[in-house]
Amino acid sequence: MENVQDQKLDKLKQYMESVKGEEHPESYLIAILHRVQELYGYLPQEIMDQVASAMSIPTAHIWGVATFYHYFNLTPRGKHVISICLGTACYVKGADKILNTLKDYLKVNIGETTADNMFTLQETRCLGACGLAPVMMIDEKIYGELTPEKTRQILDKYKT
Ligand code: FES
Repeated sequence: MENVQDQKLDKLKQYMESVKGEEHPESYLIAILHRVQELYGYLPQEIMDQVASAMSIPTAHIWGVATFYHYFNLTPRGKHVISICLGTACYVKGADKILNTLKDYLKVNIGETTADNMFTLQETRCLGACGLAPVMMIDEKIYGELTPEKTRQILDKYKT
């Protein structure tokens, strides 16, 4: 029986085959990168190499495109993604203290994932919940009126 990784690769190959006959396969590159991220959660190096050879596009060009669009993740994501809002309303209410709390607790910087793959920390602009500033979002859930203490308690719950 095929393992999950092989199944993902098969799906990706099928997709690339379906756009291969097109006149400008390169114009499908973004769609292919979206598909890779959908399947793997980020853009793994070895998969990018396969995309490059299948599409006859230099790997360096693919990375150029991938890094231009901030949407693409170049490193693996944790089980939970924490987005700390650094928008103006949150900032004036002390988002920098919350950010420092998160960095200390998780021992990562913005854009990094914890060693146990549990959390990825990222920054974001206004989450549309300024009335609750300072705010962070974990996966799809918003947490507001944060203090360093409250932030640590929330993270504790995710850990258990
Ligand atoms: S500035 Fe943070 S929610 Fe609006």
